[in-house]
Amino acid sequence: MPSSKVKVGIIGSGFEADIHAASFRIMSEDAEVVAVASPTPGHAAALAARYSIPRVFLDYRDMLREPDIEMVTITAPTALHAAMTLDIARAHKHVVCEKPLSMTIEEADEMIGVCRREGVLLLYAEELFFTPKYVRAKEMAAQGAFGKVHLVKQSEKHSGPHSPWFWDMEQAGGGALMDLGCHGIAFCYWFLDRPKISSVYCQLDTLAHGARTTGDDHALTILEFENGALGLVENSWVKPGGMDDRVEVFGDAGLTYANLHMGNALPTYSERGYGYAVEKAASTAGWSYPVYDEHWNYGLPHELRHFARCVRGLETPQATGEDGRVVMEALYAGYASAAQGRKIALPFRPSGVKKPIDLWRRA
Ligand SMILES: NC(=O)c1ccc[n+]([C@@H]2O[C@H](COP(=O)([O-])OP(=O)(O)OC[C@H]3O[C@@H](n4cnc5c(N)ncnc54)[C@H](O)[C@@H]3O)[C@@H](O)[C@H]2O)c1
Repeated sequence: MPSSKVKVGIIGSGFEADIHAASFRIMSEDAEVVAVASPTPGHAAALAARYSIPRVFLDYRDMLREPDIEMVTITAPTALHAAMTLDIARAHKHVVCEKPLSMTIEEADEMIGVCRREGVLLLYAEELFFTPKYVRAKEMAAQGAFGKVHLVKQSEKHSGPHSPWFWDMEQAGGGALMDLGCHGIAFCYWFLDRPKISSVYCQLDTLAHGARTTGDDHALTILEFENGALGLVENSWVKPGGMDDRVEVFGDAGLTYANLHMGNALPTYSERGYGYAVEKAASTAGWSYPVYDEHWNYGLPHELRHFARCVRGLETPQATGEDGRVVMEALYAGYASAAQGRKIALPFRPSGVKKPIDLWRRA
C-alpha cells in the first residue's frame, strides 16, 4: 500500500525544476519530492540541498529504478520529452511533462499511446489551467458573466529565455510561438471548454535576436474555433522589463481583463535597485513591479498538487497529453501559416516534420 504522499522524482535541475521543487514544498500535503536527476555534476545536488531532497542521480534512468517513486516530472529541454516519457512510462511511473509536449505530433501520439498501454497517467504541465486569477475568469464565464464569449486573448511576453537550448531550434523545435504560444493556444482552447480548432493564422518574425537564433522571436496567432469564437495569442521574446502575462475575455454581455502580474505587483521606484522583481526583469533600478507569491499566482503549486491527487485517484486529470497534442497541431498550423501567408485549416497533419519551425523556415 503506497504511503499517503505521492513520491516524486524530478528530471532536470534548472529553472523549471526549481519551480517544481518549490511548488511541491508550498503545497506539501499530497506529494513529496524524494529524488532529482540531471547530468551536470553538482547541479542536481545543489537543487537537492536547497529543497532537502534526499536522493540525487546523474542519469535519470537510475532514478527510474527506485521502486518507491510513483510520479516523475520532466523539466528538461523539449527535444528530450518524448524519450523521457517513454522511459518513465515503461518504468511504470506516472508522467508530468512540461510544455510544449513534444517536437512532433508523431512523438505526442507515441507518448499518449505508450502511457495508456503501460497504465500510467500522462499529465501535461500547462499551469495556465490552474492559475488562480485565470481560473476565476473561467468560473465567471461558466456563470454567464460575459454572455456568449466571442474572443479570448492571451499574451505572454518577455525579453527572451534564460538558457541557451531555447535558442537552438534542434533542441527547442521553435521560437517564441512554440515556447510561449503553446501556453496561449492551450489557454484559449481550455477557456472555451475545448471546442475543435478549425483554423490557425499566424505572423512570425525574428525581430531582435537573429544573431543568436534562427527561431521566431515574435508571434501573433489567430485561432478560429468550431463554436465561432476566436482566440488571439500574442508572444514575444522582445519585450524588455520582465514577464508580461495577461488575458482578456469578450462576450456579448460582458468582458474581463486579467493581468497576471500587475494586479499582484507593488508599483515601485528605486534609485539603487534591490534583489528581485519578477521573472526575466533585467533590472530593479527605476520603476519596477515586484511580485509576491510568484509561484502561487502562476498556479504551479495548484497544478502539481492536482497531478498528485490524480495519481491517488482523488481527482480526474484536467491537463493531459491529449491537450498537449492539440497544441502541437495548432503550432504546426501556425508555422505553416506564417510561411504561406494564409490561414491553415485543421486537421493539419503534414508528414515528415522533424520540428515545427521547419514548416516556416524551410518554406
Ligand atoms: N511552465 C512554464 O511556464 C515553464 C517555464 C520555463 C520552462 N518550462 C519548460 O520546462 C522545461 C525545462 O526548461 P528550463 O527553463 O527548466 O530549462 P533549464 O535550461 O533551466 O533546465 C534544463 C534542465 O534539463 C537538464 N537536462 C538536460 N539534458 C538532460 C538529460 N539528458 N537528462 C536529465 N536532465 C537533463 C539540464 O541539466 C537542466 O537542469 C522545458 O520544457 C521548458 O519549456 C516551462
